[in-house]
Amino acid sequence: MAEADGVRWDGKYAGREAGAPRLPDVFAPYADELPTAGHALELACGFGEASVWLAERGLTVRGVDVSAVAIDQARELAARRGVSERCTFSVADLDDGLPPGPPAAVIVCHRFRDPALYSAIGDRLAAGGLLAISVLSEVGAEPGPFRARAGELRDAFAGLQSLAAGEGGGQAWLLARRPRR
Ligand SMILES: C[S@@+](CC[C@H](N)C(=O)[O-])C[C@H]1O[C@@H](n2cnc3c(N)ncnc32)[C@H](O)[C@@H]1O
Repeated sequence: MAEADGVRWDGKYAGREAGAPRLPDVFAPYADELPTAGHALELACGFGEASVWLAERGLTVRGVDVSAVAIDQARELAARRGVSERCTFSVADLDDGLPPGPPAAVIVCHRFRDPALYSAIGDRLAAGGLLAISVLSEVGAEPGPFRARAGELRDAFAGLQSLAAGEGGGQAWLLARRPRR
């Protein structure tokens, strides 16, 4: 299935270029909460704008996506911005689970939803680590197979300390920290 996903997303990304490094809009107001060192993981990173933003902030970043076209663009963006040495981008199918890696100071997952990964995402956070996740939601939109039900992120990450969250207009998002102990 993910092979088909990869082909589909390659087609969507073909002929497009990465934009400027940036946090997704929904998390931008909380940029100061993010650390300036440590390991970051971006799931379904697309063109890697958030990953490169994190690398420019000082973190060492791993970004993964099923689309080889997107990953090529992410690597080029990192090179253009001079942060290739702090970025590792790879093609990976998240249907197979999270890629291996160290505990993360930050995990970003924007506009990719796989409830089967929620537990592993929470476990991957280092003590004090931040999760920034946003998914399509049924709240304020028609129900659909790819949309989170009301309260899905709050319930899935109940063990984290919520810093900010929102649900509405077809989107749900959460910024939350793993307790230090
Ligand atoms: C809506 S885009 C979001 C991209 C990026 N996070 C952003 O906010 O710009 C969804 C992303 O999920 C990726 N994706 C879809 N299925 C995947 C899978 N099984 N494993 C890894 N990435 C996947 C797509 O290639 C695409 O880049």
